[in-house]
Amino acid sequence: MSLRIIPFFFLIFMTCKSPDSSFPVNQSLSITPIPFKVDQKQGYFEINKKTTFLCNNNSSAVIASFFIGKMKTFTGHSFSIDNENNTKNSIQLIKESTLDFGEEEYRLSISKDEIKIKAKTDQGLFYGMQTFMQLLPLYDANSKNQMHLPVKIQALDIEDKPRFGWRGMHLDVSRHFFSIDFIKKQLDLLSLFKINKFHWHLTDDQGWRIEIKKYPKLTEVGSKRKNADGSFHQGFYTQEEIKEVVEYAKERFIDVIPEFDTPGHAIAILAGYPELSCSKEKYEVRNLWGVESSILCPGKEETYTFIEDVVQELSTLFPYGYYHMGGDEVPKDQWKNSAECQKLKKREGLKDEKEIQSYFMARVEKILSKYHKKMIGWDEILEGGITPTTNIMSWQGEEGGIKAANKGHDVIMTPAKYCYFNFYQGDFKAEPLAFGGYIPLDKVYHYDPIPKEIEEDKKKHILGAQGNVWTEYTYKEETIEYLLYPRIIALAETTWSQKENKKFGDFLNRLNSVYDVLEHYNINYHIPLPEGPTSNKIVFTDSVSIPFSTTHPVKMVYTTDGTDPIATSTVYTEPLNFKENTELRIASILKSGKMSSIRKLNITKETPIPPSDTAELSQGLIKKEIKGYFKSISDVNDSTKSHISTIKNIKDANTTYHWGHEVNEDNFKAVFLDGYVYIPEDGVYYFSSTQDQIWIADQLVIDYKTPLKKHPKESSIALQKGKHKLKIVYLNNIAKGWATDWNTVELKYRKASEVDYKEIDEHMIFH
Ligand code: ACM
Repeated sequence: MSLRIIPFFFLIFMTCKSPDSSFPVNQSLSITPIPFKVDQKQGYFEINKKTTFLCNNNSSAVIASFFIGKMKTFTGHSFSIDNENNTKNSIQLIKESTLDFGEEEYRLSISKDEIKIKAKTDQGLFYGMQTFMQLLPLYDANSKNQMHLPVKIQALDIEDKPRFGWRGMHLDVSRHFFSIDFIKKQLDLLSLFKINKFHWHLTDDQGWRIEIKKYPKLTEVGSKRKNADGSFHQGFYTQEEIKEVVEYAKERFIDVIPEFDTPGHAIAILAGYPELSCSKEKYEVRNLWGVESSILCPGKEETYTFIEDVVQELSTLFPYGYYHMGGDEVPKDQWKNSAECQKLKKREGLKDEKEIQSYFMARVEKILSKYHKKMIGWDEILEGGITPTTNIMSWQGEEGGIKAANKGHDVIMTPAKYCYFNFYQGDFKAEPLAFGGYIPLDKVYHYDPIPKEIEEDKKKHILGAQGNVWTEYTYKEETIEYLLYPRIIALAETTWSQKENKKFGDFLNRLNSVYDVLEHYNINYHIPLPEGPTSNKIVFTDSVSIPFSTTHPVKMVYTTDGTDPIATSTVYTEPLNFKENTELRIASILKSGKMSSIRKLNITKETPIPPSDTAELSQGLIKKEIKGYFKSISDVNDSTKSHISTIKNIKDANTTYHWGHEVNEDNFKAVFLDGYVYIPEDGVYYFSSTQDQIWIADQLVIDYKTPLKKHPKESSIALQKGKHKLKIVYLNNIAKGWATDWNTVELKYRKASEVDYKEIDEHMIFH
């Protein structure tokens, strides 16, 4: 019986009956990523205290020891490795280099008498054992993660091999620094799901995070960021710590790819070594997100000496054959104004600054090749042309990857719209802060790393895909986990499993077993939240009907009595109707009983507020500005320095920033816009804004309390037709790396019955 013929969910039902209720059996035969082929057989193998491992050489014994250690934590029993030839009641790890297998391929065969794992390599054996571990009743909530011997496991034959050789996870430790214990925790867990690459983004504008002995200022200066509010963010890994992580990853067959981002994203280098720039200004580690325009100077030989010195030290730490040298988001204005760069351009016959970057990357590649390393660069480096041996990581979309693969370059796919796990995985109005974008689980699951535009004979150039986590908005380890899981597990299946074996519904079934594993590893994974309402205050005049949904099917439970929902609370089945003031608390709940965070909604009956009694008014609002850096509205107290003017349009309020220009700290201030807003007809209105406070008819409708204000907040109020008092308050500052200058000052509105927001334009505001 082949899995390719029998749908997996059918297999699940087939194995639900325990052959002997006194023995725990993994009921679900739930393996993730789903193997190439599974043939279920009659009978069971019993694992008891007499079961031994048999290994046909020293390296398979190392693999056996690794898993003996893991099994001891679940059973308390130390299985032994036996040197005798008695195969009965044994788990045999057989490495045969002559097998006609792929490097990561394995066979797992479980019969009544013995378990055999065969592979050509240690890595294949490791994956065979990882699959075997998933068949044990280790993680389910009922067992409390203790496996009492003996246990029985289903007899079967598994033939398994990956679709892609590159199945990766990326972590940015520059924007925020994360401990090696945290990284090791992720690597240990990800190896269970056969992830085999860790791309470590170690350097960027916002911090240099690796000790380089020849250039101590990289960490003395470059690893410390002074935030706009005066606080510091800092951290770096010593070379010993790097070695520890690389060794830990190696034991789990994960290759570590360091990223040393050049020639842009480099101001943390220039903060310590300004002579490597084109202009020798004094630089500081960037305390704003976004891209710094001060970059390395390709016109100076010292730059290449520096890069080689760093690569030389990296080569003693990172044995893997691929290094990532960045190449993304390089603003080239400094090069245009640099005598050295212009001289270089002339000398080398380069057409423009894009070709300067190509020259630079080619030299960097040459340096890497001295250390037997192959170069990966982000897809921007295609712009000015690349050497035939350059490898591309396609992030801006799939186009770079398509172009590069069709020209014969090896490519790793990580298009932002499928693989950037710093993007939201649910509605941003319900989810905690993330970067932006929208990548729910099914979008990752259905992503195919081989776009149809790749020519047939070029498909081999797609090495695989990886999930990236950029950490501008993740201050805590648990937030990284929330963003990664379970999306990285979906990507593990996308990169390991054959396309025809993948079914999203089946994956969701198996996800329940994956959640048990995540629970055991104490991972803060994402559970789809109840979505639908765009704000947690819902105003109505007569009655209101509120529908909820989740990004993928999960049960929701709710209360209306002010208590938190529990597993036995009322199950949501259809839109909820309200006629009275109610505090609704609703959460999603997994099969295991684990609940999501609870959404609390105030459903409030209001009578529409009558308009203000206004005399003759002029168009526009009064603007009061008070200069200074204020962390919150309550800090604004000195109105003696205020400046008063009028504005015609709300959008005109912000005159201090335009895209492409740096934020000017001289413009930090608090701004109050005062006047009236005209409401066209009676009704319940929703308002949406990124500003700190929106007051309408003297009611605080929007109160954006968190210091960082990136995505609009919404709320509702009932109003009668006419002019109502309006006050908009915002702080022009930098909070947690985000400049509020980057938000357009705007206020949008819609009637409760409408979906789309409209701008409050100049015809609706008065003073
Ligand atoms: C990137 O996201 N700048 C590679």
